[in-house]
Amino acid sequence: MISIGEARRTLKFITQLTQSVGDEIAKKSSQRKRISFKGEIDLVTQFDREAQQMIVDALGRKYSQYGILSEEDVNRDTGGPIRWIVDPLDGTTNFAHGLPIWAISIGLEVEQDILLGAVYDPTRCEMFSAIRKYGAYLNGKKIHVSKTKRLEHSLLVTGFPYDIRRSKQNNLRQFSDFAVRARAVRRLGSAALDLCYTACGRFDGYWELKLSPWDQAAGSLILREAGGRVTDFAGREFDIYGDEVLGTNGHIHRPMMRVLNRTAPRVRK
Ligand code: IPD
Ligand code: CA
Ligand code: CA
Repeated sequence: MISIGEARRTLKFITQLTQSVGDEIAKKSSQRKRISFKGEIDLVTQFDREAQQMIVDALGRKYSQYGILSEEDVNRDTGGPIRWIVDPLDGTTNFAHGLPIWAISIGLEVEQDILLGAVYDPTRCEMFSAIRKYGAYLNGKKIHVSKTKRLEHSLLVTGFPYDIRRSKQNNLRQFSDFAVRARAVRRLGSAALDLCYTACGRFDGYWELKLSPWDQAAGSLILREAGGRVTDFAGREFDIYGDEVLGTNGHIHRPMMRVLNRTAPRVRK
């Protein structure tokens, strides 16, 4: 439905867009942030909304026939099978505290599958991108997952859901289980970057619960295209609308599944 030529042109457009919006927001990141709360610990700043406005305007102008789903209450349905899935600022808690680990993520969904995506980290000027079946790239260079074979030699990353204070399915048991089995476990605070860092071999594996489609649309494609495996905790097909993501270099997928299934009751939002 979209030729490879068209996909490449579209990817070029969104890499330029994420870069210009990301650089613009990064320039303003030392300004005072007006923080409002979507939940007890779920923040949003005026810059999340500003980034979203710039992205939605640009996508709407150039691709008026495509729908847009974006985190801060944008859901534009055109009735067609193609839509953008946008996280205008992934890592808002970091951003609000001046911790420079955040990114902009845009994926293109075509008939429920992600066809292409880009994740841009303005702090490090790192652009991760992929087109389905055509590999994953970091700043134009092909990337690949790590070769680490064993869980005990692995560096893992995860995150915690915003209902951590209220829900028993808060990832704390899984976190402590991996902390004593892996070489180390990190919590960066940007799911999009967690997936991309696993794609380029900085991490060997990543798991998380209760994410939203915008957190993982582009990143999950980039990880897969870098040779990674992405499923739910039971090894079933990954769904960006689902409750679980397990993304690894492939080698440590089963060992990670064993640990997750040992401790994790199935999660439903
Ligand atoms: C959050 C980050 C974080 C993850 C949260 C996400 P946001 O996105 O990706 O790493 O643990 O679950 O919601 O709110 O900063 O866009
Ligand atoms: Ca997010
Ligand atoms: Ca966000």
